[in-house]
Amino acid sequence: MENFVFYSPTEFVFGRDTERQVGALAVKHGASRVMIVYGGGSAVRSGLLDRVRLTLREAGLTFCELGGVQPNPTDAKVYEGIGLCRREGADLLLAVGGGSVIDTAKAIAAGVPYEGDFWDFYIGRAQVTRALKVAVVLTIPAAGSEGSGNTVITKSATLQKMSLRAPMYLRPVFSVMNPELTYTLPAFQTACGVCDMMIHIFERYFTNTTDVEVSDRMCEGVLTAILKEAYRVRQNPQDYGARANLMWAGMVAHNGTCGVGCEEDWASHFMEHEVSALYGVAHGAGLAVVVPAWMTFMAERHPEKVAQLGERVFGVPVQDDLQEMALGCVSRLKHFFRYMGLPVSFKELGVESPDIPLLVRKLHENKGPLVGNYVRLTPKDTEEIYRLAL
Ligand code: NZQ
Ligand code: ZN
Repeated sequence: MENFVFYSPTEFVFGRDTERQVGALAVKHGASRVMIVYGGGSAVRSGLLDRVRLTLREAGLTFCELGGVQPNPTDAKVYEGIGLCRREGADLLLAVGGGSVIDTAKAIAAGVPYEGDFWDFYIGRAQVTRALKVAVVLTIPAAGSEGSGNTVITKSATLQKMSLRAPMYLRPVFSVMNPELTYTLPAFQTACGVCDMMIHIFERYFTNTTDVEVSDRMCEGVLTAILKEAYRVRQNPQDYGARANLMWAGMVAHNGTCGVGCEEDWASHFMEHEVSALYGVAHGAGLAVVVPAWMTFMAERHPEKVAQLGERVFGVPVQDDLQEMALGCVSRLKHFFRYMGLPVSFKELGVESPDIPLLVRKLHENKGPLVGNYVRLTPKDTEEIYRLAL
């Protein structure tokens, strides 16, 4: 196990009707003026936004609003938000939505007290040393941004989708998680979320670090629970217990708990970010395409952990040939994704002929000559993986 620092100060308030506590929580966390950030309208249609406004008013707080954040959020909304937040003097950003909304709020939070261009943080030109507070009312379990210190933004002009990690500054001060808010999710978005949280665990599980038994077993346990609960939600989208477990799993998958002490991988995420940047697909759907291809590549090059996942989570029978076991794992994973209604190839994703040379070039320009850690992938390797996904 490697040395680590794990700092996770978020206050999670979980359960039915918890959004009614938002005003009191904001006051408790020192807010005087709030900026609500939300997406394309689901929170308006469900009445959630009205309930959030009411609880802020009841707590004596004033607020301004920034709506219209799109999935795979871009820099334009961040600049708009930074301007609005400075003019309005808000000191707490309240994200009401999913990863796209939360990540936009985090980018604004880091950008407001910074004199330069917020994009500097995403390209490693500057470090976050100050940020406004961010809080969350979560509406989709997927990105795990409600518990992470990460944010992912796309720069429209260059189609660069980049992530920023600043856990000391960007973890939300509180996250309100009411599973009932996820009943309105379309089945496809639920499936994308399930895939994303699973892959957040894979990125930590696929490690060469030894003596990480606790992390390994936590990963396997949470994955097993996700598979079970995803089946239940597919059967009945209004199953509170299943929705609740998925919601908590999405947080646990990405707040760092499952990867403490491990060297993490993240090649699949970097490869997918190029796909969603270029083709505008949902992140979880892009992962359902890239990850089985990545695992197929690993079955030949480094099958050990894929075989272990197959045995312990997907019930692949034990045999001497680890490559065969790893391929068995890929096949069962694809079967599950298909059951959830996810694509498992570029074709099924609706990208008939992806520009693989461009994907590879942008990937290595943005992320360096080698990506991932489980196997350090060269441009030749990533090209092969994209081709395996055709
Ligand atoms: O915009 P609205 O109208 O709210 O609709 C959203 C959006 O169309 C809809 N939705 C959300 N909650 C709903 C709902 N529809 C009905 N009922 C509800 N309760 O779902 C759609 C997707 O929302 P989005 O926020 O984009 O989903 P997600 O949480 O999957 O976030 C994806 C973004 O997060 C990034 C992804 O790359 C992508 O840009 N990620 C962020 C990470 C992080 N910050 O740590 C890690 C992840 O790996 C990921 O890269
Ligand atoms: Zn993800």
